[in-house]
This record gives sequence, structure tokens and C-alpha cells, in this order.
Amino acid sequence: MKLAVIGGGTIGVKHLEAARDVEGLEAVAVVEVNPERAAELSAEFGVRAYAHYEEMLAEAQPEITVVALPHFLHKEVAIRCAERGVHILLEKPMALNVEECDAIIEAAHRHGVKLMVGHTQHYHPDNLAAKRIIESGELGQLVMINDMRHVNYYRADRPGWFFEKAKAGGGIFTNLGAHSIDKIQWLTGSRVTKVKAFVSHYGDRGDIEGSGVLLAETSIGVPATISQSGYLGVSRNETEFIFTKGMLKLETGKGLQISRNGVYEKVAVEDLGKPLARQLKDLMAAIQDGAELDCSGEYSRTVISVLESVYRSSETGTEQAVRLV
Ligand SMILES: NC(=O)c1ccc[n+]([C@@H]2O[C@H](COP(=O)([O-])OP(=O)(O)OC[C@H]3O[C@@H](n4cnc5c(N)ncnc54)[C@H](O)[C@@H]3O)[C@@H](O)[C@H]2O)c1
Repeated sequence: MKLAVIGGGTIGVKHLEAARDVEGLEAVAVVEVNPERAAELSAEFGVRAYAHYEEMLAEAQPEITVVALPHFLHKEVAIRCAERGVHILLEKPMALNVEECDAIIEAAHRHGVKLMVGHTQHYHPDNLAAKRIIESGELGQLVMINDMRHVNYYRADRPGWFFEKAKAGGGIFTNLGAHSIDKIQWLTGSRVTKVKAFVSHYGDRGDIEGSGVLLAETSIGVPATISQSGYLGVSRNETEFIFTKGMLKLETGKGLQISRNGVYEKVAVEDLGKPLARQLKDLMAAIQDGAELDCSGEYSRTVISVLESVYRSSETGTEQAVRLV
């Protein structure tokens, strides 16, 4: 199958690298508005570079596109790919709002193409090991979940569009909170149903939030908190699951620990291969056998709906129900 990557930035290049590890998949094109970057990628990956996606879709005729663009371009480009009959791996967060998600889902259905959203959390081996333990019930009843992420969000090399609400949709919650919301929902087989959230703006760039706290209710009755801050602190990316007979500490990409008697012990985690390559393989399998995707448009829309509730709750100072339909 022929693959094109639209947007050759931080993650676009990783998708090009991942495609090298997928049998039966050949990267043929990259679309990138920055001409120097486009030339570099063309030389490194042996793909044809285009400045505009319409020209690429007409000429290169890929079967799959990866849409790795700033968030405000997701809807327009995903819909055009669907109209051209091209299957889509659309990077997270799916779009700026639920209405945009609906338009993308509708276009994919109408044109009979597969739509996968790049919720890469589903492919990290630490997360998959955590999911198995949660589902086994060996730690008893799940009581609560606390997710905490601190990063230097305002680092100098982060592209400027991430700091503009009109282009990014929001700040650290939209970009990184989307992973936390997805992780909680997917790992526990639940949906976030209600939120009370406070987001705050202490960053020195743009008009997006640089921090926030969310208290969530889930459809399985387990409460969760998500705390995010993007300033000059100590980096942390931890999700702690508290059960009646123990605890799990998940540090995605760094490991998983389990406690049954007051101390944490490392869980041996199987190396399953590169997450982005496995993500592409899943999309190809779904195209070939028509299987439903775990990270479908319908699922990914729920993450955007939670994000909308987060901002509504923070603005109004009230608890908000998540619109699930
Ligand atoms: N799944 C993950 O873990 C993960 C990690 C990083 C980023 N992302 C997501 O991937 C997407 C891209 O993020 P990024 O960090 O790569 O951003 P980026 O700014 O590094 O890359 C975007 C690229 O798109 C190019 N571009 C902009 N407008 C264009 C247009 N009209 N046509 C063609 N190219 C255009 C830019 O020049 C840039 O090179 C976002 O949705 C982001 O949230 C996901």
C-alpha cells in the first residue's frame, strides 16, 4: 500500500520512519509547506515532496495518508482525503471541537474509508501491560486514578501554533491532556461522564492554558484526577491506579510498577516493537479485513467532548456533563 504523510514536523518524520518497518507499506510522498524541510525529508526517505496536499492527492494517489498537521487543519485535510477515497491516520487530538469530529466521521463513512486517530497510548507496551493487570482483577476493586504530567511546555523549540488557541484549540490539556483522558478511558474500559476543571494561564507565550486540574467521574463509577503543568518544574508523566489490594504506577515509556504490600516492584514488560509501526499495521489490517478500529473517529470524538467540558467547566466554575452524543 502507498502511504503519504501530510505535515513533515516532529511526528510526521516519526511516521515516515515507522513506515520503513511495516511490510507491504511504501511511503511515497510527504506534504510540507516549509521547502527546506520538504527537501530534507524527500532526500532522507526517498519520497516525493509536495507543498500542497491537493496536488499530492491527485498525483501520488496514496491509499493511506497520515495527517500530522496543526490541529486547525485536521478537519479540512481529513475530509479532503476521505473525498478522494484515501484511508486516514489522523493525529490526535482529532479536531478542534465535536462538530468538526462529526464532519470528519460523516465524510469517512460517506466515502467508505477507514479513519483511525493517532492515540498512540494504545500501542505503548507499558500501557498494554497495565491494561492486562487492570482487566485481570488481581488487585481487587479499582478505587481511583491519579494522572500527573509536568513538562516544559513553553520550551523555545515548540512551534508557535501550539500557543495560539485558534490553531491549537487549547494548550497543555488539549495537546497532552488528550493522552491522559484517552489513557484513563481506554485502560479502564470506561468513559469520562462528568468533569469539574480549573485551567490556568501563567505561560509567557500565546493565549492557551499552561496548567490545569480536572476531577472526572467515569462510567464505571471510579473517580480520576488529571493534573498538568507546563512550566519549569521537574518533568513527570505518571498515572497511578489505586485498588483495594494494591496499586499500579504507570510511567508510559519508562515502565510499570506494581504494589501488593506497600512497596512498588517493577513489572517485566514485553517489547512488542515500535508503537507507530504497530499503529500503521493495525490500520492496514482494518482496511484489508474491514475490522472495527480501537481508535475510531467515534471513540476519539469522546476525548474531544471531554476537553470541551473541561474548558466549559473552567469558564463557568461549574461541574459539566460530557456530551456523549
Ligand atoms: N501521537 C503523539 O504522541 C503525538 C506526538 C506529537 C505530535 N502529535 C500530533 O501531531 C500533529 C502534528 O504535531 P507536530 O508536533 O508534528 O507539529 P509540528 O509543528 O512539528 O509539525 C507540523 C508540520 O506541518 C507543516 N504544515 C503546516 N501547515 C501545513 C500545510 N497546510 N500543508 C503541509 N504542511 C503544513 C509545518 O510546517 C510543520 O512542519 C498534532 O496533531 C499533534 O498534536 C502527536
